[in-house]
Amino acid sequence: MSDQRLQRPLPSYSAVLLTLGAAAIHFAVAPEHFTEYVPYGIFFVGLGLAQVGLAIALIFRPTRRAYAIALGGTLAVIAVWLLSRTTGIPLGPRPWRAEEITTTDLAATLMEAITCLLFGLRLRRLSPRRGHVRMALRTLPAVLFAPLLAFVGVGGALSPMPAAFSAAPPVTGVASTSVTSLVGPQGAEPDKSFTLTASVIHVGGQEAWAYNGIVPGPELRVTQGDLVRVTLLNHLPDATSIHWHGIRVPNADDGVAGITQDAVQPGHSFVYEFPANDVGTYWYHSHQDTSNQIPRGLIGSLVVEPKGASAIAQRDYTLLVHLLPNSDSVAVDGASQLHLDANPGDVVRLRIIDAIQATTMNPDGALETPVLLGAQYTVAALDGHDLHEPQLLGPERIALGMGQRADLVFTMPQAGAVRLVGLKGVNTTPWEKQSTAAVTFGSGSAPAEVNVSSLPRFDLTAYGTPAPDAVYDATHFDVTSQIVLGGGPTFRNGGFDFSDTFNGHASPFIRPIHVRLGDMVRLRIVNHTQGSHPIHIHGHIFSVLAKNGRPISGSPVHLDAILVGPGETWDVGFLADNPGIWMLHCHILVHAAGGMSMTINYDGITTPFTMGTDSGNIPE
Ligand code: C2O
Ligand code: CU
Repeated sequence: MSDQRLQRPLPSYSAVLLTLGAAAIHFAVAPEHFTEYVPYGIFFVGLGLAQVGLAIALIFRPTRRAYAIALGGTLAVIAVWLLSRTTGIPLGPRPWRAEEITTTDLAATLMEAITCLLFGLRLRRLSPRRGHVRMALRTLPAVLFAPLLAFVGVGGALSPMPAAFSAAPPVTGVASTSVTSLVGPQGAEPDKSFTLTASVIHVGGQEAWAYNGIVPGPELRVTQGDLVRVTLLNHLPDATSIHWHGIRVPNADDGVAGITQDAVQPGHSFVYEFPANDVGTYWYHSHQDTSNQIPRGLIGSLVVEPKGASAIAQRDYTLLVHLLPNSDSVAVDGASQLHLDANPGDVVRLRIIDAIQATTMNPDGALETPVLLGAQYTVAALDGHDLHEPQLLGPERIALGMGQRADLVFTMPQAGAVRLVGLKGVNTTPWEKQSTAAVTFGSGSAPAEVNVSSLPRFDLTAYGTPAPDAVYDATHFDVTSQIVLGGGPTFRNGGFDFSDTFNGHASPFIRPIHVRLGDMVRLRIVNHTQGSHPIHIHGHIFSVLAKNGRPISGSPVHLDAILVGPGETWDVGFLADNPGIWMLHCHILVHAAGGMSMTINYDGITTPFTMGTDSGNIPE
């Protein structure tokens, strides 16, 4: 009897189920691999068939030999997988290049690893004969586990990262204008020329990606009406691009990889040219693989000064608030404590730019609430656009979402310093101490510290006084659209993930908003999530219409990003006067990458560029 058991171990139904689960995943990934490299496709179909065959053999002929083959074969498959995810394998279209690990291959490998254990146990005869009930109970974990893992793996395999997704594909036989022809005035010599060289730098043993060797990059200052030319030289190991955040530029110069251009390859360059017609505080940043490239340091400020206006402010400071590369520590222009000159009586303009990105652990960390202490001040502009008759304020928290700006104007008091506080970093863990930054203006004793969180919050819906505004005053809108912000578990980009959604869909599969040149467009943005989302539009300026259904009552407010708090509804409008294919996305980078990104498409405009694995263009 024991001899017989030695020759023929028991079948392991758990191993059979797990092997079939892994086979299902390998069949599901095969189509994608066929398009990538035919031998890969054949390999995965073959592997799936071998696993089905193995499962059958283990039911009907569970010999020691069969278990030994199963163990050896499965270990070999795991070894090849480990190799392909670490050093890469020497074959195929990308020899010796490590592949990314996805939930799909983790699911398959986890099932295979468990079967190896079971095969090993059978070989060592550690499974004495038991009753049917005990047998069934022992199989139960696999009965629950294998289908779940197979679901995760197959779901991911059937929703791969798009290969070549076009935001506005040309249709054969239909005449259209390509985004590449939507350029500014041609042939004129630029008034201001800059070169931004993107490269890897090392500061304090840390690697950062920088423009012209510094983080943040150089401040670009131009005058209204200037024709601006910026040459991007890419000395990075990866492709990149530059987007001019907030300023209305011709579509071809918007810098969005996969929509308005191909990402600029290492060693190559790209020339951006635009007339700086919008006065105010703006910034620039990479718009290729943005959620990785901004945190590495590819940011800088852009200021358009009014033409001919006599300088009202004796001091004009741009304060780019950002995280130090590879860190959770907040800094202003690279420093956590900044001292800036100002004499008693000086009028000072502060251009605060929030470039703090959130982390996945702390998705709302991007909300900054700067507070000015020691002087009364006005909020002169939001997102670069002046407010009408702004009143003097005492200390208030001005909520800024990632990407937003506020210009504060104050007069230096006769005695004592003025301080900007309330600037915070983002914590990755709850027990971490939060980093803060501050800026001190002038000398003398610092103003008394206050408990920032107890201060009132600045309300942009009732600040300043009303003034005519073509969009706010419009009685008719040609296009009305609602965007509901949400999120939830989905299969996306080859894996199982929590997506951030517009109207229940994640990018790139969100239906664009179609507009025609000259349309008056009204958007209602409804937030069904627990976090705040700065929803940013490219190429256009929102007029804020209403919050929670109540029209705003103060100055007209013009923004390129509307901060939509939890449970809030905001109505904004814009005039469609800048033809192109324009992004509309949450500026919390992990949300944009997680799916909160779509486009506004002008009728008759198409793009030859695509996003996805073929081109390597990843706008978010
Ligand atoms: Cu500041 Cu689409 O970006
Ligand atoms: Cu968001």
